[in-house]
Amino acid sequence: MNIIEQTVQYVKDSLSSNDASHDYAHIERVYKMAIKIAHDESVESELDLEVIKLGALLHDVHDYKYSGSETAGPEAVQKFLNEAGYPSNLTDRVVYIVKNISYSKEMESNGNHVETPLELRIVQDADRLDALGAIGIGRTMVFSGSKGRPMYDPNIKPNINMSKKEYMDKKNDTAINHFYEKLFKLKDLMKTESGRRIAQKRHEFMELYVDHFKKEWEAEI
Ligand code: ADP
Ligand code: NI
Repeated sequence: MNIIEQTVQYVKDSLSSNDASHDYAHIERVYKMAIKIAHDESVESELDLEVIKLGALLHDVHDYKYSGSETAGPEAVQKFLNEAGYPSNLTDRVVYIVKNISYSKEMESNGNHVETPLELRIVQDADRLDALGAIGIGRTMVFSGSKGRPMYDPNIKPNINMSKKEYMDKKNDTAINHFYEKLFKLKDLMKTESGRRIAQKRHEFMELYVDHFKKEWEAEI
């Protein structure tokens, strides 16, 4: 088995008990989108492409929301690639992607622009696009449902200016609030040209959805 095939097997096993918001199908969509964006960004080196593919495949292993640890993911990925005999300079680049991909990690920069490597920006955009649009709506409802949270409560207002800690500790939220607290912000955080273009379309679809949702809630339409 080559390193990609080995990684696919490892990731399938590692995510097998996750709900459908972070299952292997999410990984497959991010993988496909990352390759597409890499192509648009003219990534041509096979090794650079391999780092992007491995970053996409491994980015949600032991994710904070499921493991409760911010270091468990990068540590497990480092161990897996070492044991697979993958070269250490390339392993470092993959681990860097896994460590820095998340929205919560980006909150540490407090909105200041930080220049990051193209391979991170590509996997980040691919992951974020899967949080938007029709699929993003589905994943949000699935995630909220798996936590037993309500879809909506007009009396619980969204908090759109949370610190990283408040964001990560937030337990009793509604699914609709998540659109205001994170999803509607993503289009302005996209890092590549094609990512931005696709995000815009998916953003508009989500706006329409939330607008409809609230009107239906009030029996207006
Ligand atoms: P990132 O990898 O950027 O940190 P996450 O893994 O936290 O992103 O989130 C991915 C998706 O999981 C979200 O876009 C959303 O669909 C779902 N999700 C995460 N947190 C919540 C939440 N508090 N409420 C509803 N859905 C959520
Ligand atoms: Ni993801």
